[in-house]
Amino acid sequence: MPTNLDAWRTLTRHAEGLREVDVRDLLAEDPERFIHFSLSMGPVFLDYSKHPVTRETMGHLFQLAREAGVVERMGAMFSGERINTTEGRSVLHVALRDFSGRSVYVDGEDVMPDVRAVYERMRDFCHRVRSGEWTGHTGQRVTDVINIGIGGSDLGPRMVTRALEHLDPEGPRAHFVANVDPLDLESTLRRLDPERTLFIVSSKSFTTQETMTNARAARQWLVGHLGDDSAVARHFVAVSTNTERVREFGIDPENMFRFWDWVGGRFSLWSAIGLSIALAVGPDRFEELLCGAHLMDEHFRTAPLEKNLPVIMGLLGIWQLNFRGAETQAILPYSQALEWLPAYLQQAEMESNGKGVTLEGEVAGCHTGPVVWGAAGTNGQHAFFQLLHQGTRQVPCDFIGFALSSGIGPEQHTMLLANFFAQTEALLQGRSREEAKRELLEQGSDEAEAERLAPHKVQPGNRPSSTILLRELSPYCLGALIALYEHKIFIQGSVWKINSFDQWGVELGKKLAKRVLPDLEGDRTEGAHDPSTLGLIEVWRSMCEGL
Ligand code: F6P
Repeated sequence: MPTNLDAWRTLTRHAEGLREVDVRDLLAEDPERFIHFSLSMGPVFLDYSKHPVTRETMGHLFQLAREAGVVERMGAMFSGERINTTEGRSVLHVALRDFSGRSVYVDGEDVMPDVRAVYERMRDFCHRVRSGEWTGHTGQRVTDVINIGIGGSDLGPRMVTRALEHLDPEGPRAHFVANVDPLDLESTLRRLDPERTLFIVSSKSFTTQETMTNARAARQWLVGHLGDDSAVARHFVAVSTNTERVREFGIDPENMFRFWDWVGGRFSLWSAIGLSIALAVGPDRFEELLCGAHLMDEHFRTAPLEKNLPVIMGLLGIWQLNFRGAETQAILPYSQALEWLPAYLQQAEMESNGKGVTLEGEVAGCHTGPVVWGAAGTNGQHAFFQLLHQGTRQVPCDFIGFALSSGIGPEQHTMLLANFFAQTEALLQGRSREEAKRELLEQGSDEAEAERLAPHKVQPGNRPSSTILLRELSPYCLGALIALYEHKIFIQGSVWKINSFDQWGVELGKKLAKRVLPDLEGDRTEGAHDPSTLGLIEVWRSMCEGL
């Protein structure tokens, strides 16, 4: 249990002493604070000087990481040990972006030749589709690609494609269908020409109910329009670890791109699951993305803990959650192109670290993964920032921004950045009652009015944020950013001693959905559900009656 570690106990005592600490005072007292509590690596700069930490705090946190054995666990991951013990699997998404020429072994077998072979097939396929050499059943060029997948088989490719597609406006348009709600597929297909549409069915297991249902509906749409079953061969490809199921579905394994059980679903965008990215923005940019991630992997693997970006971010999160009681974490990319990043990180963090027992099966004894949420700035400022500034909770925020513009409007980008910096400053500085009153008087309020309104305008300040500033929203920088968060998640899971790589918690709901389905299709299985659920099914029946 992590709470039994000496450093955990020390941190508990240390946190008590810092309960009332004011970061504004820390900044005023130490002119070196910004330099000391910031770090850059390649194109990534992290400032964490606005967190309520001292040099002593960081020392205790690094000690915690050492006592928890994170260094050994990092070594075990990179060397292919089966650290996902509940599923008996290695965790090697890092191998997918390893261009060093090193061998990576799983059970004594070098997996790298296989990784490169699939990667070369992806490249070749992308060139053929993008050049028009690969055509649909009627000889038309592919203009639209639909990725059908859910969870990790959707969010990663969707987030990256949306982030980078502006770099190649001539590439095929990428669409993403995840929800089994028929409207998701229907509204996507409505505007598309079946002769020019390519489907990628992305599923690690190739058994996921939503994905298989949507894939069957998509096949029906295609065959219905083209009037020929054999059209499937030119319009459907699969990405999976399960060749048998792909064949059963009717996709020729020749049109399948493999990956491996040592790639977790939420870490799979680097594998063939990223095919939609490579098709939309080109395989060279996909490779740049992998290279950016590899840069972060090497930094993570080799830098000392004290100079290690993912380690620092992971430990700050633990400090905020376990020692300061901040239960949520906001992700605030100041980039419209990164609007899917909060949802992507929500799965990455919450599916990885939302666990209540340790690797040994004991109760964890402390909170694990925070609730992760967020939205792109500046939009969020006009929605939920009110609570961040004046609400009763402390919400640690990650502000993510880019020095250079991705768009054509330099003036807008400067304004975006002004907001980006100003929000972290406002959270820190706040506004006192005296300041609020003075402002009101300056704006023409009389004394009584200013006195009455001032408390409503007070912003307590001293609210924590990290700022991650990257050079530009290039594939390379994005790859480094995503890998930074992946490794942060790894660090936290290692300190909490949980398995960040399974997801048993999603199983029960899936099983029960299979039991509810026959009830909705007509076979009443009275007693198979609790009275509340039975009641709801009855209400649903009565609502449908007479339709
Ligand atoms: O339901 C959770 C989950 O298993 C995720 O971990 C995974 O990313 C998603 O479902 C999709 O799984 P698959 O790629 O096997 O369809």
